[in-house]
Amino acid sequence: MKAYTLNDGNVMPAFGLGTWKSPKGEVRAAVKEALRVGYRHIDAAWIYQNEQEVGQGIGEAMQDGVVTREDIFVTSKLWNAFHEPDKVEKGCQETLAALGLDYLDLYLMHWPIAFRPDREQHNSPEDFFSLEELPLSKTFDAMVKLREKGLVKSMGVSNCGISNLKKLIADCEVVPAMNQVELHPYNPQNELLEYCSGQGIRLTAYSPLGSGDRPDSMKAKSEPPLLENEEVGAIASKENLSPAQLLIAWGLSRDTVVIPKSTNAGRIAENFAAASHALSAEAKAALDNIGIHYRYVTVDSWFIPGVTYEGKDFWS
Ligand code: A2P
Repeated sequence: MKAYTLNDGNVMPAFGLGTWKSPKGEVRAAVKEALRVGYRHIDAAWIYQNEQEVGQGIGEAMQDGVVTREDIFVTSKLWNAFHEPDKVEKGCQETLAALGLDYLDLYLMHWPIAFRPDREQHNSPEDFFSLEELPLSKTFDAMVKLREKGLVKSMGVSNCGISNLKKLIADCEVVPAMNQVELHPYNPQNELLEYCSGQGIRLTAYSPLGSGDRPDSMKAKSEPPLLENEEVGAIASKENLSPAQLLIAWGLSRDTVVIPKSTNAGRIAENFAAASHALSAEAKAALDNIGIHYRYVTVDSWFIPGVTYEGKDFWS
């Protein structure tokens, strides 16, 4: 299985199981099954509201002797309501308690957006800290302290564009090891990939299959389903792969980490098989040039006039 050495020397499996949208009641078995078939990397987050079940799946696989803690790589993410430096450890400890683990291999700042934790809704300027009041660097510096306490091994960010990364690199002593962002042929983010490679920041591809199981409230009325793209289907047939397998192999061919979500045993195995497929240069080039540009995961409801998170700047 392909693995990458991060900028802090820690080694991370290139392929893992995503758990965003994995329902409680299904995700425990999915995680256990994934570990049984050979996955060694599980991606979780506080906000997915299923970390306890993810942890049960990991715990059962360990009890069954399938894996030891050292065999696996577990990522989780600090939620937006824990950005104040004195709340960062609380966010991490809640995740560790839910997962039933005493350390994380990788801990990411989930969004470059800070919620005021005392607000239930986040739809007006008063519900957010501005980046001037609470710079990302303050939150990231507090995350670095978690490593000193042995709670996490590597630290990174998620959903950061180049401008946010530049600020972090300028203001923090530690360069993030990872930036987890939406990546697939419709949203390849080539400029971000090039910038991050130059800075020693690895990218993880979330929603690598186009995230078709997002709730309707998160979907635009007419969005192009990536897995149903005819060209993707035709290239996949030529490679003797399913469309999902092709998309996974494409992500790995770009030296990104890829974390497809599935709670279906057959598709969990199918996706795992793709992780050892060497994609032909023709197939890679055809996907590189697919010509459709689309971002599935937008956070428009957090882009409010008067808040520092403006849609036009956010992803740049
Ligand atoms: P399921 O969990 O029922 O397998 P993403 O990783 O981009 O968020 O995509 C997740 C979606 O893709 C889910 O709906 C998941 O369904 C589906 N999916 C995962 N693996 C495959 C596969 N091999 N073939 C088709 N759909 C898949």
